[in-house]
Amino acid sequence: MYIQVGEPSFDEEEVNNVARVVREGRVSRGKELDEFEQALAQYLGVKYVVTVNSGTAAIEVAFRAMGIEKKEVITTTTSCAPSANGIIHAGNKPVLVDVSPINYNLDANQIEKHITSETAAIMPVHIYGRPCNMDKVMAIARKHNLPVVEDCAQSMGTKWNGKLTGTFGDVGCFSLNVIKLITTGEGGFIATNNAEIARRAVIIRNYGRSPERTDYCYTEFGHNYKFTNLQAALGLAQLKKLEGFIAKRRANAREMIERLSDIPELQLPQEYELEFMNYVSFPIVLKKPGMCVRIREYLEKQGVENRTMFMAMCDQPYYQKMFGVLDSARMYPHATYIGKNGFYVGCHPTLTREQMDYMIKTIHEAVAAVR
Ligand SMILES: Cc1ncc(COP(=O)(O)O)c(C=O)c1O
Repeated sequence: MYIQVGEPSFDEEEVNNVARVVREGRVSRGKELDEFEQALAQYLGVKYVVTVNSGTAAIEVAFRAMGIEKKEVITTTTSCAPSANGIIHAGNKPVLVDVSPINYNLDANQIEKHITSETAAIMPVHIYGRPCNMDKVMAIARKHNLPVVEDCAQSMGTKWNGKLTGTFGDVGCFSLNVIKLITTGEGGFIATNNAEIARRAVIIRNYGRSPERTDYCYTEFGHNYKFTNLQAALGLAQLKKLEGFIAKRRANAREMIERLSDIPELQLPQEYELEFMNYVSFPIVLKKPGMCVRIREYLEKQGVENRTMFMAMCDQPYYQKMFGVLDSARMYPHATYIGKNGFYVGCHPTLTREQMDYMIKTIHEAVAAVR
């Protein structure tokens, strides 16, 4: 048996949708693309959705469309590189904030000490599908008159106080890559209520070309970040299933929490008041250092795929090359601890009863073997 950390869930609806647009030759542009953007906007309750070809591109496009360049953007230390990359691609510097040891999200209480005259925005990342405390983030943003871009690559369907992530700030940035809640293979989108941001995002994704003109006039420096009609056809079928996927993930997570809670060494995910998690993955942090690598090796050998939790951004070699070496253990104790002592396993809707039982049993064995 080999249990992956994530896998897509498709049925005949996806196959038929894709087959139809292929047969009709509408693989690049087409009505499905407009329908998908509208369906996403309706789901999120925002005015505009602009699809792009990845979640990383969505972050870059968000900052560029907002005109934020050569500035500092406050973000989390615990995320994968694309979060910071999107900020850097737009010509900005990510400024890192340590995370909460409980929910692994940027610790809103520490944001203000990083605000300088160069700060132009705050980008919380709802990591591992758990919402940031958006009341605190938005209050600080309002106090300092800073826009907020939410990195929701891992948090489609996640809510804070009953409101979907990606709808608090000025822009929400989402990923549709293969281990996300719904997938179109690769892809992403921005969600916003701001007409000007949406207008500029459309231009930037299409080489910088003005949609109002027919003479190949480029009003911005742009990219080819276009999302295809083929992907949209797949996405329309996936979106219909989103609520069901979330329900199944949450049921899997509830069961895993219940059946792993007898292992005292593990800090399991836990929903606090106002939080609603999508369980894009199932993160586990070891309460004591020195066990994580051996547990991960044991699981891998037994066919339970797992991945380390993200190395603190300040420890990433490329970040250090660009922005210098920071005293990470002192400045970012929680992010560095989590990066070295945490891992995640799958929680996806296609896990079978047999796989769930096997994974839970194997995690018990792994901890017992390294105690
Ligand atoms: C938190 C976070 N931000 C951004 C991204 C980038 O998304 P993509 O892979 O679609 O570029 C990812 C992707 O895994 C992510 O997990």
